[in-house]
Amino acid sequence: MATRFLRQLTGARQPVAAGPDPSAGAPPAPAAVSPPDGVLPDGVLADGVLADGEPAAAVRVRGLTRAFGTRAVLDQLDLTVAPGEFVALLGRSGSGKSTLLRILGGFDDDVTGDVLVARRRAIVFQEPRLLPWERALGNVVLGLRGSDVASRGRAALAEVGLAGREKSWPVTLSGGEAQRVALARALVREPDLVMLDEPFGALDALTRIRMHALLQELCRRHRPAVLFVTHDVDEAILLADRILVLTEGRLAFQAAVDLPAPRLRTDPAFADLRSRLLAELGVQELAAATG
Ligand SMILES: Nc1ncnc2c1ncn2[C@@H]1O[C@H](COP(=O)(O)OP(=O)(O)O)[C@@H](O)[C@H]1O
Ligand SMILES: [Mg+2]
Repeated sequence: MATRFLRQLTGARQPVAAGPDPSAGAPPAPAAVSPPDGVLPDGVLADGVLADGEPAAAVRVRGLTRAFGTRAVLDQLDLTVAPGEFVALLGRSGSGKSTLLRILGGFDDDVTGDVLVARRRAIVFQEPRLLPWERALGNVVLGLRGSDVASRGRAALAEVGLAGREKSWPVTLSGGEAQRVALARALVREPDLVMLDEPFGALDALTRIRMHALLQELCRRHRPAVLFVTHDVDEAILLADRILVLTEGRLAFQAAVDLPAPRLRTDPAFADLRSRLLAELGVQELAAATG
């Protein structure tokens, strides 16, 4: 498992903004290197990103800075996500959460710093982003090749509870169903890392509860690393192994969530953690009221 995973890591440095690419002329990224278990490829170690013998990671970011104009939205940010770990990322609106996900997804390379991320990765956004002229199955397998693509797509749809809806047009799906299709589209790619950007933010409360259960079940079954962006503190506590708070461009606070399952909002430890997180997010009065 570890070796398979490591082979999928990209070892390339992100290009440095407004400067020469430090890896120009260097040998190709070490993604094809077959390293010993638990050790990252030589090329990555030689790049100075990682200490010797550090275990594999789904995400390993060091000193990441992203500026818009003169404002550094991400400022020397460090982040590690272990294989199979479920990390929730909290932050105020405008703190840079989506910016970070776009960078990890490979949509934005105008950065400085070192970014190492599992090659097989998928992103689910708040809006399902389905192509209206493709049916549900067509949306799930979009861009995939191979003779078994349709059966893989059908299996993914079945996993998210949409067996029999392969031929449905997006316009006929409810918000929750459309987001299930988006989850299936991520799942069918068998990602080592799934990034979700406020994926349930537009859904009603009941649908959101069902989607939490579905996501937990999919994670139990497939064990991807997950980076889950939300502004909902309770959602983060319900789902995550670890919660990070993005403040002023850095991950200034983190908390491991070691509450027993099922996690209940009525548990005093749940309420304590909520208060701490709300205080980190600068919502002191509410933290006091709920604490
Ligand atoms: N392409 C862009 N050009 C200029 N500013 C941007 C761009 N993308 C994001 N920003 C700014 O970066 C900050 C962080 O945005 P974002 O990552 O979307 O925040 P979040 O997802 O945490 O709400 C915001 O102030 C936003 O206006
Ligand atoms: Mg955002």
